[in-house]
Amino acid sequence: MPFRRDSDSTASMRGLNRREVIRLGALGAGGLMIRPISATGSMTHRTEATMLDFHDRPMDVVRIGFVGVGLQGTSHVENFLKIDGVEIVAICDIVDDRVARAQQLVVDTGQKKPKGYRRGPRDFERLCDRSDLDLVFCSTPWEWHVPVCAAAMENGKHAATEVPMALTVEDCWRLVEISERTRRHCVMMENCNTSSPRPYSRDYLIQGTRGLARKYPEPRIYIEGRSDPHRWDPVEEYLEEYDHPVWRRLEAASAGAGHGGMDFIEDFRLVESLSKGRPVDMDVYDGAMMSAVVELSGRSIEKGGEPLAFPDFTRGGWKSARPLEIMRNERA
Ligand SMILES: NC(=O)c1ccc[n+]([C@@H]2O[C@H](COP(=O)([O-])OP(=O)(O)OC[C@H]3O[C@@H](n4cnc5c(N)ncnc54)[C@H](O)[C@@H]3O)[C@@H](O)[C@H]2O)c1
Repeated sequence: MPFRRDSDSTASMRGLNRREVIRLGALGAGGLMIRPISATGSMTHRTEATMLDFHDRPMDVVRIGFVGVGLQGTSHVENFLKIDGVEIVAICDIVDDRVARAQQLVVDTGQKKPKGYRRGPRDFERLCDRSDLDLVFCSTPWEWHVPVCAAAMENGKHAATEVPMALTVEDCWRLVEISERTRRHCVMMENCNTSSPRPYSRDYLIQGTRGLARKYPEPRIYIEGRSDPHRWDPVEEYLEEYDHPVWRRLEAASAGAGHGGMDFIEDFRLVESLSKGRPVDMDVYDGAMMSAVVELSGRSIEKGGEPLAFPDFTRGGWKSARPLEIMRNERA
């Protein structure tokens, strides 16, 4: 994965290329990992109160500003325009036509024309400075994810970003710390978490059963006591009964949306959490943990595939029961 130099994320600020980043990590030279790491791989410092299970004030309308409206950003704009209780108030991109295209999409649905920000690569800072925004949604190339999320939170807005949230472990920590200090969410939009059956997992447990499901190599399911012993059944036979309630609820609304509907579901869930003031499905610690794999993979490869510990971005908070919000909401 390329590390670019034209942003203020840690790697690029120092003008390091990918190989140098990996070498520094491998040598433990402190260029990126400036904090001590305990034997378990967790950073030893503590900062503000945790964002685990963070509740905020409910809001009737979620006012969103978009930064980056290329392929994926425009697709998100289209999704949010279909969700009740959303206003798109600002659009930022370095390409004029893309700003205009997104503005037109908003106007076409009867909403007021959002303000355009197109004065270059740091114009998102003016957008983040607005007082009438609740959420800044970033769909730029990777090197801008950290600067945009940081600017959003420092200006009192929740941040959501396309994948990955950050490219270095140090930048993951940076976003965790800003989120904790500002009490603003920083959400990584990992759409694959909202697919059903869940992709990229070989086998996973089906809640309330002694059963397993998998998507690859073929969608199959086995439920102890129902399936014939040692025989996988086609998933379709059980979907009606075991499909995730959120997916069932949103299946029709998500039809035709990006990545088989997953993009709509993650956008809908973000608005639902923010409008109800509930914890988000993917909190800053989830995003940091999933993004840390970028740097850790490079360092592991440099060491011939040696396993590396993931930092515990929750600093032990994961050990206390964290309600699974996506299930709790279904019962509410
Ligand atoms: N989750 C998924 O399945 C998925 C799929 C595709 C892309 N993505 C992610 O979405 C992001 C965008 O990808 P894309 O395919 O839409 O790329 P894209 O090139 O189509 O869009 C990026 C947009 O950001 C704009 N931009 C660049 N720098 C900017 C800045 N400083 N300020 C404002 N705007 C800026 C570009 O002009 C462009 O319009 C990437 O992070 C990518 O990894 C995720």
